[in-house]
Amino acid sequence: MSTSSRTWFDWQDEGAFAGRAAGMKPSAIREFLKLLGQPGIVSFAGGIPDPALFPSDAIAQAAARITGDPALCSNALQYAASEGYEPLLEWIAGYMGDLGVPCTIDNIVITTGSQQGLDLLGKLFLDPGDTLLVTAPTYLGALQAFSVYEPVFAKVDPGSGAVYGDIASSAMAYVIPDFANPTGETVPRSSRERLLDTITSLGVPVVEDAAYQALRFDGEPIPSLLALDVMRTGHIDRSRVIYAGTFSKTIAPGLRVGWICAARPVIQKVVRARQAADLHGSTLDQAILHEVVTARFDEQVQRLLPVYRHRRDVMLDALARFMPTGVSWTRPEGGMFIWLTLPETLDSLALLRDSLEEERVIFVPGPSFFADGSGERHLRLNYTRSDDATIVDGIERLGRLVERHIHESMSGATGSRPVGSLGGVV
Ligand SMILES: Cc1ncc(COP(=O)(O)O)c(C=O)c1O
Repeated sequence: MSTSSRTWFDWQDEGAFAGRAAGMKPSAIREFLKLLGQPGIVSFAGGIPDPALFPSDAIAQAAARITGDPALCSNALQYAASEGYEPLLEWIAGYMGDLGVPCTIDNIVITTGSQQGLDLLGKLFLDPGDTLLVTAPTYLGALQAFSVYEPVFAKVDPGSGAVYGDIASSAMAYVIPDFANPTGETVPRSSRERLLDTITSLGVPVVEDAAYQALRFDGEPIPSLLALDVMRTGHIDRSRVIYAGTFSKTIAPGLRVGWICAARPVIQKVVRARQAADLHGSTLDQAILHEVVTARFDEQVQRLLPVYRHRRDVMLDALARFMPTGVSWTRPEGGMFIWLTLPETLDSLALLRDSLEEERVIFVPGPSFFADGSGERHLRLNYTRSDDATIVDGIERLGRLVERHIHESMSGATGSRPVGSLGGVV
């Protein structure tokens, strides 16, 4: 033990923190969100719903009714069960049943957004050095949540089900089958079956992140991995799929209500982990949400779909108009994102740095979504939060910037420029 004559504590000394704290990286997206209010900035960063579409009136009425009723109010303001507010658990069980997953409330636990669900699952399944199978790219918040538990990342290709890397000590897989963050792509049914075959042969559980599943604009819904595995195994309690859902993308993220739906032994462990983490989520928020979803979940989703579909189309049209040759992008059937692939010589971090100074358009650079920090040629665009004119204007500016970078790279001008870390850029 070292002694010191100092009376003040040196918080710059990393040794004061546990080793795992060093792996806790700031979210690039949170950094971008700080720029949102600045004049002249067009933001395509963040998986952010349009606040004009929040069911604010219904939320206000539900809050008034609950707080105005003495019995409901004291229940909503008291400590409660870690599993969650029972009427909401019942609603979710019915919703999962409609999605082809017959289950009871014993198969569900409410979480503080699905993000807490990911953290608790990492805590339950990952020992340091365990292999975690993820797609590359994948949701950066999942990489953040799981990295704390010090896994070794390996890659699973959601199309073929093939796995790459050291899978000998695989502990868990994580995939986003519908309108993935960041690519917007959806895994077809035949590939989901292959993925389940791979995961089954590895003998590990798979976390299915269904954050965007309800936001389908085009095409037919595809059964979730959980629904497919329940068909295979005959019962949710025999399934290896752990489904993480959320109301953030359909109702409002500020309520912070998500859920996990899985076999009962998994739920029981998550409940214990949750007790240790924060006892339970806000009962008032869950009670409000229960009233809102009971009265108008479908109506609310139907309100979002045409608006988001239209904005996706506006962005796709603008990309076709303003992006130079050599740039390609995905065409999502739902969700919130388009994924751009730049010509080989370009770097999305350098593009963002220049964009902040010149065109003032922000997006999330590809490396944020890769466990190994690769993906320089890619960037993610969000289309749900901007109006038509802003989308067209922003893509025109971005197209100009990409064009400049292509010219500069052809003349060798960008080659020696330092890119710096993202944290230093924004
Ligand atoms: C794929 C995915 N999973 C989970 C989350 C976390 O959402 P929340 O914690 O608000 O439910 C997000 C948020 O953007 C996401 O994109």
